[in-house]
Amino acid sequence: MSHARVTARGAERWVRGHPWIYRSDVERHPAEPGLVQVQDPRGRFIGQGLLSPTSEIRLRLLERTDRPVDAAWWRARLETAASRRAGIDATACRLVHGEGDGLPSLVVDRYDRWIVAQLLSAGLETMRQPILDAIVSLFDPAGILLRHDVPARRREGLPTDIEQVLGAVPREIEVREGRIRYLAAPWDGQKTGAFLDQRPNRLLAGEVVRPGARALDCFTYHGSFALHLAARAASVVALDSSAEALQRAGTNAALNGFTNLELRETDVFEAVRAMARARERFDVIVLDPPAFAKSRATVPDAIRGYREINLRAMRCLAPGGTLLTASCSFHVRLPEFLAMLAEAAGDSGRRIRLARVLGQGEDHPEVLTIPETGYLKGALLEAE
Ligand SMILES: C[S@@+](CC[C@H](N)C(=O)[O-])C[C@H]1O[C@@H](n2cnc3c(N)ncnc32)[C@H](O)[C@@H]1O
Repeated sequence: MSHARVTARGAERWVRGHPWIYRSDVERHPAEPGLVQVQDPRGRFIGQGLLSPTSEIRLRLLERTDRPVDAAWWRARLETAASRRAGIDATACRLVHGEGDGLPSLVVDRYDRWIVAQLLSAGLETMRQPILDAIVSLFDPAGILLRHDVPARRREGLPTDIEQVLGAVPREIEVREGRIRYLAAPWDGQKTGAFLDQRPNRLLAGEVVRPGARALDCFTYHGSFALHLAARAASVVALDSSAEALQRAGTNAALNGFTNLELRETDVFEAVRAMARARERFDVIVLDPPAFAKSRATVPDAIRGYREINLRAMRCLAPGGTLLTASCSFHVRLPEFLAMLAEAAGDSGRRIRLARVLGQGEDHPEVLTIPETGYLKGALLEAE
């Protein structure tokens, strides 16, 4: 097998539990992408990694020993990852969360009998066949779709197409999440077809809402939180700026037999400002916006955006009301998010309790030494 040699700083990253070694810390490597044996500056073996010869992230740690990374290795790693999801009460969830599962740059999501996967590095792409073979032998899927239409692949010099590599993957797949059913959109939906990372928080929203309540779901997408709220609430208003997303939300409402859901195509910033001004009140409000901060540089602007909508939402809470609020911006870390909520609460004139700090579902495991594995944070707030 080919070899790569890294600097002392590069080797130290692996020792300290981060699987990436950047370009500047790789002294030499082969020209072609693939699996390489990695040595420290003194020529000692430190592990096996995936080489992406033109990427900023040049090496990704796969295996610390010299055990062969063969078909059996892939099967065992995928099986371990899948077994961590055994107790999940849903027919859609993430089976492999890349670095969080020790499988850098690999995403494998299950939607009922179908699999949607992403191979997000040039090094991993060379392992396509053993990965697909492992998926087939472990899960026996009716079809596999590769959602490769993502910028991460472009940065790796890889094609960014959508490929059906097994069977026939439907345009829409009906899945179940707790007692709610919804249609995932593997070909054209966001991410791999749904926001699987919020699954436990959606179940939580369904638990905290009281029968007869009035609820508001901001940034509803396909109605995901709204559906859980609608199972108990008297009425749910669901807001999104995308007509297409709302159309699927309507189909999802019908699928569950809900007639208490009102879908509004609108800008959430304008809508919540108008609602606060009109003194509208809701017993439960959900705020699940898109990532406002795409880079560290845009964090201050993002924080202003988060603060604005959280402040308005707090003002719209009925006495005893609950706000479930989230941020999926990796660059806005949990302490900054909580500080922003404290500022908004201070401005709102309401006394707001932090009932629970929220994160991403357990099928999106976060590793402490790999901050990039965690991006979704949230809070469950209660107003007096
Ligand atoms: C993170 S997704 C919401 C995911 C959803 N809550 C779920 O659990 O599946 C963000 C949604 O916000 C919508 N959106 C983005 N900016 C918006 C805005 N200013 N006003 C209303 N909707 C917006 C997008 O169309 C998208 O559907």
